[in-house]
Amino acid sequence: MKRLAILTSGGDCSGMNATIRAAARTAISKNVEMIGYRKGYAGLIRNDFITLDTLAVAGTLQRGGTFLQSARSQEFRTEEGRRKALDNLQREGVEGLIVVGGDGSLNGALALARLGFPVIGIPASIDNDIPFTDMALGVDTALNNIIYAVDCIKDTASSHDRAFIVEVMGRGSGYLASTAAVATGAEFAIVPEVEFDLAEMCGQLRQRHQEGRSNALIIMAEGAGQAHELAGAIKDAIGFEVRVTVLGHYQRGGSPTVFDRLLGSRFGKKAVELLLEGNTGVMVGLACHALVATLLEEVVRGEKRPQDEILKMAEVLGI
Ligand code: F6P
Repeated sequence: MKRLAILTSGGDCSGMNATIRAAARTAISKNVEMIGYRKGYAGLIRNDFITLDTLAVAGTLQRGGTFLQSARSQEFRTEEGRRKALDNLQREGVEGLIVVGGDGSLNGALALARLGFPVIGIPASIDNDIPFTDMALGVDTALNNIIYAVDCIKDTASSHDRAFIVEVMGRGSGYLASTAAVATGAEFAIVPEVEFDLAEMCGQLRQRHQEGRSNALIIMAEGAGQAHELAGAIKDAIGFEVRVTVLGHYQRGGSPTVFDRLLGSRFGKKAVELLLEGNTGVMVGLACHALVATLLEEVVRGEKRPQDEILKMAEVLGI
C-alpha cells in the first residue's frame, strides 16, 4: 500500500487529534502517504482532503476536538453518497481508510467495507456506548471535565443548602452519569438503563435535608429525561432549594487526558498496521488494556450498557 486516508466523523471528542497524528506518523515511517478528509464522510463525498505529512500533524496531540473537523453526513447514508465516496477514494489512489467515530460512523465504515474497500474503525464517543471496547476515545477526558465542574458545583451547593441536578451527556447511555456519580460522591444517578422511583428519591432527599446535610447532588443522563422538568417535579417536596446545571458541550472539549492521548495514539498506530497487514472490516478496541480487533459486523449488532457494578455502586455509595 502506498496511500491511506483517515477521517473523523460524528460528534468530536478529545483524543481524535492524537489518533490522526499517530496514524499519519506510523504510515510515514513505513513510506506510506496519509491523507485526511475534512468534515468526515461529507468531505469524502466532496473529495476535500489534505496531505498529512509530519509537519501537518505537529502540535496537535494536546489539542481537543479534531483539526480535520467532523460532521454527521446525511448524504453518506444514501447508496449514491457511498458510491461517490468510493469513487473518490479509488480515483485518488487511496488503498485503505481509517474511520474514527461513534456508532453511526462505524456503520458507515461497515458499508464501505461491504463495497469491498479496506476500512478500519476506531471507536470515539464520549458516551462509551460502543461494544467490544472497554473505553472509547474521549470518555476519560469528558469524565474529568465533568468531575471538575461537579466539584465546583458542590462547593456552592453546600454553601446554600441546595440540591443540584447536573445533566450530563449520554443520549442513550448512562455511562457518564453513573461513573461521574461514583467519582463525585453524588446522592443519585438517574440513567436510561435503570428505572427510578421519583417518590422514593424525594423521600430520601427530604430525610437528608432533615438530618442537616448541607447539599445534595443528582447526576442525570440527558437520555433519562429533562433536568429542568425533574427540578419542577421535586422542588416543593425535598426541603432543599433546587438548582439545575446542564453541562452540555463543555464536556466534549478540552486538552485530552494522558489516557486519551495514549489511547488515541495506540488506536491510530494499530489501525495503520492492520491495514498494511491486509485486514479490513474490523474495529480496533481495548480489552483489559490490550488492543483487539473485532469485526465491524459484530460491533454494529452489539450493545453496550454501563457495568452493573458501577450502577450498583452509584446507588450504594450515595446513601
Ligand atoms: O454521541 C456523543 C454526544 O456527545 C451525545 O452524548 C450527545 O447527545 C450528542 O453527541 C450531541 O450531539 P451534537 O453535538 O450534534 O449536538
